Amino acid sequence: MTDKGVRPPHLAAVLVGEDPASKTYVASKEKDSRGVGFTSSVYRYPENTTEKELLDVVNFLNNDPEVDGFIVQLPLPKHIDENKIINAINPDKDVDGFHPVNVGKMVLGMPTFLPATPYGIQTLLQRAGIETQGKHCVVIGRSNIVGTPMAIMLSRNAKDANCTVTLCHSRTQNLAEITRQADILVAAIGKRHFVTEDMVKDGAVVVDVGIHRVEDPTNPKGYYITGDVDFEHVAPKCQAITPVPGGVGVMTRVSLLLNTMTAYRNNIISI
Ligand code: GUN
Repeated sequence: MTDKGVRPPHLAAVLVGEDPASKTYVASKEKDSRGVGFTSSVYRYPENTTEKELLDVVNFLNNDPEVDGFIVQLPLPKHIDENKIINAINPDKDVDGFHPVNVGKMVLGMPTFLPATPYGIQTLLQRAGIETQGKHCVVIGRSNIVGTPMAIMLSRNAKDANCTVTLCHSRTQNLAEITRQADILVAAIGKRHFVTEDMVKDGAVVVDVGIHRVEDPTNPKGYYITGDVDFEHVAPKCQAITPVPGGVGVMTRVSLLLNTMTAYRNNIISI
């Protein structure tokens, strides 16, 4: 399209504060965007930015015709109401798929921006040739970003879904009993090495969404990254398992680019 003289897609990111993980994620998004020829811009604001100031930024990006899609990196500082910010994003530019309009469309199976992590996981299962039809998928964790949309997406009547889904969370009783029934187990609980060997049935497919930094003075970065699954002991039992790093995180990043491409096409057509 750029050969035809059309401008490239433009993904913007808004980062508030100094959270090291958020800074890393946003830097990755910038690098990925540039890597595929998109324009990338990052709007950085200090921790003490007010809700009103952030709403003004969202409004500015909503109205910039050169920006196809943008994300506001979460979590936000405690004094800012995340729901208020998400609600203010133009759903047509909400490439995270977090706006209630887009969540509603996702639930109804209407075309929309699917949240990047579950979208990436669904693509991963499909591309790895993992059968989902009629399988029991157990999701651990009910966040708005991962667990809840994952459970909804995999339970839908679609060729890359049709699972029987159980959504487990911090109040679930007999968790291991349930996870041992999983043909596909998605760990998105946010606790390091939470899923142990005894919680997984032989031949299961395990998807690890966790990202934890563990201090490690022997590592040049001062830390290493690991997941929600005790990979070393769980992997030998599995038909397939995703590593951390190098698994779901990469798919999430790709999904955001795909959503941006969709937003761009819609935007270019409407101009
Ligand atoms: N924080 C953790 N994951 C995400 C994500 O997918 N999008 C945004 N905006 N913030 C996040």
